[in-house]
Amino acid sequence: FETTLLIAKPDAVQRGLVGEIVGRLERKGLQLAGMKLVHVPRKLAEQHYAEHAGKGFFDGLIAFFTSAPVVVMAVRGVGSIAVCRTLIGATNGRLAAPGTIRGDLGLSGGHNLIHGSDSPESAERELSLWFDDAELIDYTSSSQGDVYDPSDLS
Ligand code: GTP
Ligand code: MG
Repeated sequence: FETTLLIAKPDAVQRGLVGEIVGRLERKGLQLAGMKLVHVPRKLAEQHYAEHAGKGFFDGLIAFFTSAPVVVMAVRGVGSIAVCRTLIGATNGRLAAPGTIRGDLGLSGGHNLIHGSDSPESAERELSLWFDDAELIDYTSSSQGDVYDPSDLS
C-alpha cells in the first residue's frame, strides 16, 4: 500500500465539486486515510509549491491557492500515487483526456481542480507538510478483499 497527498483546490470547493471528486476516488476503490478543510496560509502555499518558485505563474498560483478553502486528503491504495495522477489527468483541463477529473470537469490550465503528488518523494514530503501523524488514520477497509485480488497485495 502507498499513500498520496491530494488537494481539491479552491475552484473545486467554490464550484461544489468536492463530492464529485471524492466520489471518483471512492468508486475507484481508494481509501481515505486523512481529510480536512483548510484555508491555506500564504507560507504553506509557497512551501507546497516551492518547486515552482520564480516561474512566471507562481504569484498567480499562490494567489489562487489561498483564495478560498481547499480540501486536503491522504489517499491510500496499491500504487495510489500513480493511480491518482492518472485519474487526475493532464495539467490543462482543455488538454486532459475525457474520463479524467480535469478532462471531465474543467477548462483551465491554472484552475485545474485538484493537486496530486507526482512521485513517492513528493508524496512523503507533502504528507508531512499537510498532516500531523495523528491526523492520518490507519485502518483496514472492509471492502479491501473485494477491491483487490490476493496477488495485488503480495
Ligand atoms: P499539481 O498537481 O497542482 O502540482 O499540478 P501538475 O503537477 O499537473 O502541474 P505542475 O506541478 O507543473 O504545476 C502546478 C500548478 O501550477 C498547476 O496545477 C497549475 O495550477 C499551475 N500551473 C502550472 N503551469 C501553469 C501555467 O503555465 N499557467 C498557469 N496559470 N498556471 C500553471
Ligand atoms: Mg505538480
